[in-house]
Amino acid sequence: MIDQLAWLEARVTTKPQVAIVLGSGLGQMADAVENPQVIRYEDIPGWPLSTAVGHAGKLIFGQLEGRNVVVMSGRAHYYEGHSIDKVVLGVRVLARLGARQVILTNAAGGINLSYHRGALVLITDHINLQGTNPLLGPNDDSLGPRFPDMTFCYSPRLRALAEEQAHHIGVPLQHGVYACLSGPTYETPAEIRYLRIIGADLVGMSTVPEAIALNHMGAEVLAFSCVTNMAAGITNEKINHEEVLETGRQVREQFISLIRSILPKL
Ligand code: HPA
Repeated sequence: MIDQLAWLEARVTTKPQVAIVLGSGLGQMADAVENPQVIRYEDIPGWPLSTAVGHAGKLIFGQLEGRNVVVMSGRAHYYEGHSIDKVVLGVRVLARLGARQVILTNAAGGINLSYHRGALVLITDHINLQGTNPLLGPNDDSLGPRFPDMTFCYSPRLRALAEEQAHHIGVPLQHGVYACLSGPTYETPAEIRYLRIIGADLVGMSTVPEAIALNHMGAEVLAFSCVTNMAAGITNEKINHEEVLETGRQVREQFISLIRSILPKL
């Protein structure tokens, strides 16, 4: 991580206060950044490349709503075969560069029957079912404690702010618990019934490792899901990645408005 941090510090002309990580189909937000300085992942030594369709591979530094931001367009997923360390490398570096607040976004399957395709959901908590954890191994005490508390992993302060702003600008925002699996298969209907019983409202394959690593470092996390499809077995249809991307595209304007409305208040 130190290598990538030093590499970026030597090149980036602004110090980001807020980082925004874009999920599948949400890449467009990168275009909203003013005075963009674009850095491609492939140019950063040792930076994990994202192979997922719908994920670009670049960092965009600049301003949005008067705040210095960095947008991470394209993330590394565990299912791509990256080590869990690599999955969280990006957000760790951005937090060390100065982003003490990080907005994570993702595409997710809706388990809660009150959701619908295209719904925006504020993540209030998670269930980590990836079978791994980014803090496994020797603890780096310079980052955070050995046994970090997870009670407030998703900042109550930022959540309250997001709910307030969503209401203010008239964007419907639900809230829920996100279960993170390794993927890359979508779930079976039986797995979805199980996830509902254990208290999950959403299911996906990202975000949780990053939220854990950021919480460990003391950064404030705000996370949103876009329900790109109802989870397996709820409708009679198969789930496909094209539908996931298409729904992401349909709601991104709302998503961008919501994030824009929150930024000045962070
Ligand atoms: N399951 C897991 N991950 C997802 C889904 C899903 O149904 N939709 C988008 N990401």
